[in-house]
Amino acid sequence: MPLSIVVLISGTGSNLRAVQESISRGDCDAKISAVVSDRSDAPGLQFARQQGIPTSTVARSGYSKRAEWDAALSEEVALFQPAVVVLAGFMRIVGAAFLARFEHRIINVHPALLPLFPGIDGPAQAVAAGVSVSGCTVHLVDAGVDTGPCLAQGVVRVLPSDTATTLHNRIQNAEHQLLPRVIDAIARGRIKLGPHPKVNGTEAQDCEVFCSLPDNLESN
Ligand code: GRF
Repeated sequence: MPLSIVVLISGTGSNLRAVQESISRGDCDAKISAVVSDRSDAPGLQFARQQGIPTSTVARSGYSKRAEWDAALSEEVALFQPAVVVLAGFMRIVGAAFLARFEHRIINVHPALLPLFPGIDGPAQAVAAGVSVSGCTVHLVDAGVDTGPCLAQGVVRVLPSDTATTLHNRIQNAEHQLLPRVIDAIARGRIKLGPHPKVNGTEAQDCEVFCSLPDNLESN
């Protein structure tokens, strides 16, 4: 049985597309049971509909209190009975009810090598800091902002000419390779989620370099 996932998006959904394409190629043993957004105009929803994937929107504006929105989002996602919830460009912080409902089963993709550069604008933070490598991280979501245990990382060289945009574009290429691989690894039991997630049998306390991307590293 493929791993049932629900993907949460707020925007373009290029990671969603990468996961779906990997599934279609037979490289990722998962099934996207639904795509849920906080924005009805998220372009990624249209891609999902074209693929015949159920979609729905739970807009923050529909609820006066954040906790009410969070509870509604939890209910909506739970309808699709995911084994794992994938935050792929979901631009809101999920709340206590959501975390409790899907405890240790929520993963996020972040455009930096956590624990460096959490929060917004990871690529801009990397450029401003003058680091020579950055990348992307897939991590388990906890109550903090980008603080949960890292499951895998992809490394990307930062070029002297990089702007936040050019770096983010290359980081996204890395994300598109990494995220489907992590989902497949969860599906096949090579990554075990839980309070102490394990990657290939080793506790994932420190960030695990699951996939370095030599094309990017050799590009300079
Ligand atoms: C990605 O860069 C991801 O790391 C960040 O938001 C972006 C989403 O892009 N959390 P997309 O919607 O998947 O194209």
